[in-house]
Amino acid sequence: MSSVHILGMGAVGLLFAHRLAQHQTVTLITRTPAVDNFHIIEHDQTTQLAVASTTLNTLNSKITDCLIPVKAYQLRQAIKDIAPYLSDDANLIISHNGMSDITEITPHLKPHQGLFFLTTSMGGMKPKNDTVRYTGAGLTQLGACNSVAKERQKKVFDTLFKPCITPLEWVPNISEVRWQKLCVNIAINPLSALLQCKNGELRSPKYSHQILALLNEACHIARLEGVNLTLSLELARAYNVMTLTANNHSSMAQDIKHQRQTEIDAICGFIVRQAKKQGVKAPENERIWQLVKQKERA
Ligand code: PAF
Repeated sequence: MSSVHILGMGAVGLLFAHRLAQHQTVTLITRTPAVDNFHIIEHDQTTQLAVASTTLNTLNSKITDCLIPVKAYQLRQAIKDIAPYLSDDANLIISHNGMSDITEITPHLKPHQGLFFLTTSMGGMKPKNDTVRYTGAGLTQLGACNSVAKERQKKVFDTLFKPCITPLEWVPNISEVRWQKLCVNIAINPLSALLQCKNGELRSPKYSHQILALLNEACHIARLEGVNLTLSLELARAYNVMTLTANNHSSMAQDIKHQRQTEIDAICGFIVRQAKKQGVKAPENERIWQLVKQKERA
């Protein structure tokens, strides 16, 4: 049985821990040794996760495969922290909403360490620190971020994920998929956070002009960056996710509710920074970014 480590215990971390533990040994790496047992609630049934947990200080072997589903703003520090504990040919699979700068991570990696990105719309929310509630199926996509990962794509995809994650697909161009997921998050997360509403409520016509303006700017910036996104397709994708996750509260709505830092800097903030770089403006993303920042501070 192969062994996989998961850094962080957010909703995605716990959902994947449960699924991956059906086919391999899973160890959760937590910041403090405070939590012993983790649980998943699926269809109103609570099950204890069949996983071990450790802190980095008490790890007793090098890490070979590690899923890192931490927030975009935690990623750089997480990679720095874990780097000394990785085997020389480790595979790192990062996963978060919004855009992070991969070039900030690569200097911490050794020449034979593979870097992958995973994006998922599998639904989960944490009613308690040690418990995740599964809220619905969703596509998981995996792609390579460096040349080592490209060489190992089949092994990582087939052995780690294929036996236990469904629906699942390998994507040859992960950058484009990250932009597509960014558009979904731009359409759903900030508005649902500001309005404290469920994802499905955003389908009301009264929000359509804002969603159109946000995605129009995002698609324009993407094209300036060489990523060919079509507004109509990104709108259709966002509205489809609103329907599939109609009863869910987005991660940003939950972050605001529980007075946690949000991922808005890596979502609308990213669009505004890229717009500046390209010498254009993204006024609706700028406005919504500032509104969420105000709400974060309130
Ligand atoms: O951040 C989230 O909550 C999710 O990425 C998504 C897809 C918007 C569904 O709620």
